[in-house]
Amino acid sequence: MVLFEKETLLPPPRAAAVRSRWRSVGTLVRNAIVLAVILKTSFAFYQRWTAGEDSSASVVKCPQVGPLVPGQESPALSKMEDYFQSDKFRNETIKRLAGAIRIPTQSYDDLGPVGEDSRWDTMYDLADYLKSTFPLVHSTLALEKVNTHGLLYTWKGTDASLRPTVLMAHQDVVPVAEATIDQWTHPPYSGYFDGKYIWGRGSADCKNNLIGILEAIELLVGAGFEPKRTIILSFGFDEEISGRQGAGHLSGVLIDRYGKDGAAVIIDEGGGMADSWGSTFALPGVAEKGYIDVEIIVRMPGGHSSIPPTHSGIGVASELVTLIEAHPYEPHFHAENPLLGLLECGNAYSPEFPSSLKKHLPWKEPSCPAKKDKLALEAAKQGDEVKYLFTTSLAVDVISGGVKNNALPERTRVLVNHRVNIGDKVSEVQAKLVHLAHRVAAKHNLTVQAFNDESEIPSSIKLNSVQSLEPAPVTPTSVDGVTPFGVLSGTTRALYGESILIGPALMTGNTDTRYYWDLTRHIFRYDPGYDPEVGFSLGGIHTVNEKLSVVAHTAGVQWYSLFIRNMDEADLA
Ligand SMILES: *[C@@H]1O[C@H](CO)[C@@H](O)[C@H](O)[C@H]1NC(C)=O
Ligand SMILES: *[C@@H]1O[C@H](CO)[C@@H](O)[C@H](O)[C@H]1NC(C)=O
Ligand SMILES: [Zn+2]
Repeated sequence: MVLFEKETLLPPPRAAAVRSRWRSVGTLVRNAIVLAVILKTSFAFYQRWTAGEDSSASVVKCPQVGPLVPGQESPALSKMEDYFQSDKFRNETIKRLAGAIRIPTQSYDDLGPVGEDSRWDTMYDLADYLKSTFPLVHSTLALEKVNTHGLLYTWKGTDASLRPTVLMAHQDVVPVAEATIDQWTHPPYSGYFDGKYIWGRGSADCKNNLIGILEAIELLVGAGFEPKRTIILSFGFDEEISGRQGAGHLSGVLIDRYGKDGAAVIIDEGGGMADSWGSTFALPGVAEKGYIDVEIIVRMPGGHSSIPPTHSGIGVASELVTLIEAHPYEPHFHAENPLLGLLECGNAYSPEFPSSLKKHLPWKEPSCPAKKDKLALEAAKQGDEVKYLFTTSLAVDVISGGVKNNALPERTRVLVNHRVNIGDKVSEVQAKLVHLAHRVAAKHNLTVQAFNDESEIPSSIKLNSVQSLEPAPVTPTSVDGVTPFGVLSGTTRALYGESILIGPALMTGNTDTRYYWDLTRHIFRYDPGYDPEVGFSLGGIHTVNEKLSVVAHTAGVQWYSLFIRNMDEADLA
């Protein structure tokens, strides 16, 4: 999963070490960290909440689907189920995943075009490795190479009227900085197995998904499974640096081929399991915050610094920065924010969900529309990790201006990063900045050029959108009738038991699915492999000592196989 979008924001990288430090600082949290924090802190803050009267008994929110087991059976499929539990499978899966980890498919921020920059060429090695490791997949599914390294597998179903199941993963990994190699307990590209964990870059993000999906298909082919519903595997190769070359092209091919809303469901990397309020939740990401990076250029007359104006371009830019920071975004729960649904789940099922919270739930009551805003304000006091799940963030991240100690700066540049709240729009962020820029411009007699393609003019403040993405459409989580969310839920509870609750989650990072919004509304960012003994774990993604429990991995493979079969039988509404 990519944690921030930066390639156009960073100065030219000087060394791998610089990039990697960027990636490993605390802000580079996976959505799961955010979730873990909210799940932990929320318990504390709900307890601190003043005790109020219990709200009336409400209809059950967050209905849970029962375990969903495929109806179609065969001796070969039963044998496959047994095989998942065997030592032989365990040994082989370790070998397969380790082999993939040993191919260092690193995505660099400054990669040139595919075909020109030779650093992409490790992708050929991975494609060769997959071909030799999964012979049945390659003799049964059609494989197309999209933009050279994008891998698009199609297992054609017998019923063309059924919309396909799409499974995704990315082939690339975050680079390992030279300077951090000695901090790894086992070398990052070793694929070392210590009896419990498989170690290395990509073991948890997300060659586990790449290999897991292919293992499930290989076994299903071997067991004679023939899908009615077409199965598509779409593997990009630059997710960690924007996904434009991989997912950007793959999604186009699929949307052309199957049309808008042409797929039944997409499963991509994302949230896993976490404990909270005395329950264990599976947390598929059903929404992603948006983002916009805004470049502010202040143009002022140059001249000798011995005869300066009261405010130089840097002073004016600073004034605008100060004004921007003085007007942060307020916390606000829009009705579609999945976090509200998660709170409903905690309220409905979790033994340690504090009764004091109930006065803020259910938030859907038409009689008290302000409830959720109170909820937001209270929750926001508990810390930024919680607050930014329902608040647009802004961070002034880059500033440059001036070239010499005796010359006035003619051009000062500032970059402001925003993560847009669920329910808000990129244009609202733009409008707010335009308003603030006008205030500063009026004071200093400058012209504002707001988000247009015109070239910069002297004595101006120019606002440019460097890159932006609206918040993702929120995936439906209804379980009325047979729905993709219901199939995901039922598959998960069939595998792990009914003590696992399924709750909707919000991603603060983006995955390759950003390019697939038109292919289906049913997008889930979900890591289905879980080892109860390890519990919630980030597994060192994007930092040192990335590793994955083999129990989690084998469970993940089994989950993919069950999900494919359940989707095949699903009579979707
Ligand atoms: C699995 O690997 C372990 C450790 O290498 C070995 O002792 C065991 O015999 C293997 N089991 C099978 C069934 O291959
Ligand atoms: C403001 O700028 C305009 C054109 O850039 C100029 O004609 C005008 O005299 C300026 N006004 C002041 C008060 O400096
Ligand atoms: Zn990833």
